[in-house]
Amino acid sequence: MKNVIKIFTIEDDAMFSKMLKYTLEKEQEYDVTCFRSGEEFLEHIHLNPDIVTIDYNLPGISGLEILKKINHYNSDISVVIVSGQEEVGVAVESYKHGAKYYVMKNEDTFTELALCIKNLTAHVNLRKEVEILREQIIDRSRYSAIIGESNAILKTIRLIQKVEKSNMLALITGESGTGKEVAARVIHYNSPRCKKPFVPINVAAIPEDLIESELFGHEKGAFTGADSKRIGKFEEAHGGTILLDEIAEMDINLQAKLLRVLQEKKICRVGSNKEIDLDVRVLVATNKHLGEKVKEGKFREDLYYRLQGFLIHLPALRERGNDSIILARQFLQSFCEQQRIGHKTFSKEAAEAILAHSWPGNIRELKAFVERAALLSESERIEADDLMFSPVIA
Ligand SMILES: Nc1ncnc2c1ncn2[C@@H]1O[C@H](COP(=O)(O)OP(=O)(O)OP(=O)(O)O)[C@@H](O)[C@H]1O
Ligand SMILES: [Mg+2]
Repeated sequence: MKNVIKIFTIEDDAMFSKMLKYTLEKEQEYDVTCFRSGEEFLEHIHLNPDIVTIDYNLPGISGLEILKKINHYNSDISVVIVSGQEEVGVAVESYKHGAKYYVMKNEDTFTELALCIKNLTAHVNLRKEVEILREQIIDRSRYSAIIGESNAILKTIRLIQKVEKSNMLALITGESGTGKEVAARVIHYNSPRCKKPFVPINVAAIPEDLIESELFGHEKGAFTGADSKRIGKFEEAHGGTILLDEIAEMDINLQAKLLRVLQEKKICRVGSNKEIDLDVRVLVATNKHLGEKVKEGKFREDLYYRLQGFLIHLPALRERGNDSIILARQFLQSFCEQQRIGHKTFSKEAAEAILAHSWPGNIRELKAFVERAALLSESERIEADDLMFSPVIA
C-alpha cells in the first residue's frame, strides 16, 4: 500500500515551478503544492508536508532560513535544496542544516529531483510504517485478552477465537460499554493481518457531509475546503482491519455505497472515478437492533443481510455472573500500578456490593467506578463506604 506523499515546492520562477509540478505529478502517489516564496510556504507549514524542495536563491526570506525553520518545526520533514549556481559553500551549509539532497539547476535538474524524491519517498514510507508498528505494539499489549469466567463470556470468547483466523466480516453487537471495540481489536491482533493497521471509525460521530470523504478519501478540489488530496480510512486500513462502529447510524445513502464496497472490494475517492483495489477486513459494531432499524426504514435490508456474516454478541455485565468482581480486581490492580498508589484490595462488603450492582453502563461504567474508588479510599482496603455508584438514569 502506498501512502500519498505530500510535497511542497518553493520556487519563484513560475515556469520552473510548473515544470517541476508536472514532472513529479506523473507519479500517482505524489501530491504537489507549489509556493512562490518562503513567506507563503511558512503560512502553510502546519499542513505537514513530507518533502519540501527549496530554491536557494529566493527574494525575501532565504532558502537557508526556510530550511532552518523547517528543521526547528519538524525535523521529520525531508528537504531538498535546489540552487542556481554551483557553490560548494551553499551545499555545505545546506547539509549542515539537515537538507537531504542538494541539486543544481541545469538540463538534468528534473530527472535528478525526481530521483531524489523517489529515494526520500522510500524513507518517508518506512518512517510511517515504523510509527504504525509502534502504535500497534502499544495497542496489542493493551488488548491481549478478554477477561471473564462466566458461561456467557466464555461462549463469546470461543466465537471470537473461531473468527480471528478467518477473513470473514463480523458483526459485533452488545449494549453500550460491553467491550465491542475491545473485541474488534482482539480479533484484529490475533489475525494474520495483525502487523497491518487496525482502523476504528465511529460512523455516528462524523458530520454527514464529511463521512464519505473520511471513509473513502478525496481528491484535491473535490469540494470546498478539500485543499489537498487525502486518503480515507478504508485506504488507511489496507492490508489490515477497519471497524465501522455504530453502523446503525450510517446515513442511508452511504449505506448503498458501503454495500458496493463490500461486494466489489474497490473504492473511489470522492471527486475521482478511478477505482482502487482494497484488501481490508471489515468488522462492524452496533448497540442497536439492526432488524428494528430495517423495519423503521432506516437501514437497508440488503446491507443488513450482507452484514450477517458472523455474529458476535457481547453479553451485558449483569448477565456475566461473577465477572464484575473479576474485572473490578483486574482494573484496580492495573490502575494502582499505573498511578503508583500502592496495592489496594476490595473488602468483602465492597466486593458484594459490586456483584449486586446491575451495571447499566457495563464495563465502561465499572472501570470508571473502580478508578474513582481507588482514588477516594484512603486505606489499602476499599470499603463499601468508599464506593460511589453512578445515579441510575430513569
Ligand atoms: N475485556 C476488557 N478488558 C479491559 N477493558 C475492557 C474490556 N472490555 C471493555 N473494556 C473497557 O471498557 C470500556 C468500553 O469498551 P468499548 O469501547 O470496547 O465498548 P463498546 O461496546 O464499544 O462501547 P460503545 O457501545 O459505547 O461504543 C473501554 O474503556 C474499554 O477499555
Ligand atoms: Mg464502541
